[in-house]
Amino acid sequence: MAAYSPTRLQPGLPLIPVRARGVAFLGLAGLVLAGLALAGCHGTAVLTTQQAEGKDLYQVRCAHCHEDNDLGLKKVPPNLRGVFNQPVLPSGAPATDENVKRVVLSGKGMMPSFAGRFTEEQMAALLAYLHTGLR
Ligand code: HEC
Repeated sequence: MAAYSPTRLQPGLPLIPVRARGVAFLGLAGLVLAGLALAGCHGTAVLTTQQAEGKDLYQVRCAHCHEDNDLGLKKVPPNLRGVFNQPVLPSGAPATDENVKRVVLSGKGMMPSFAGRFTEEQMAALLAYLHTGLR
């Protein structure tokens, strides 16, 4: 059958799906860009890479106590939102990186020590995120 000879199939048919894929990809890329633009309009905070790393650490290591008090501690862990916007920490100690680092490394009351749990880089990221006021 002449209609199925390779010489007739090759130039025309394979091109159609390739073009269709290209168009679909452009459409998808457009949607993603539009989505990003919309997210920007809603004022979603854009974190630096370091702050975003700190946010992950905070959410995994700190939020379950400081936001959910999932252990039902009698002394409710203080809200850390804007912790660096006040002159002092809830304990009354000056709100400095050094003091927060010390609390994290040594623990305090029912808060466990995180000594050896964070690298220097991770600690810096955690502090950078706390400085955003927890965006
Ligand atoms: C097991 C629950 C728990 C976890 C997990 C936890 N905390 Fe706490 N945190 C507490 C409690 C309870 C206090 C209050 C301690 C007190 O004053 O007796 C506290 C206090 C603090 C304070 C205030 C210290 C001061 O001097 O007032 C900071 C800052 C803090 N935590 C940061 C963190 C960070 C950062 C993490 C994550 C790395 C974290 N905490 C993880 C329970 C927790």
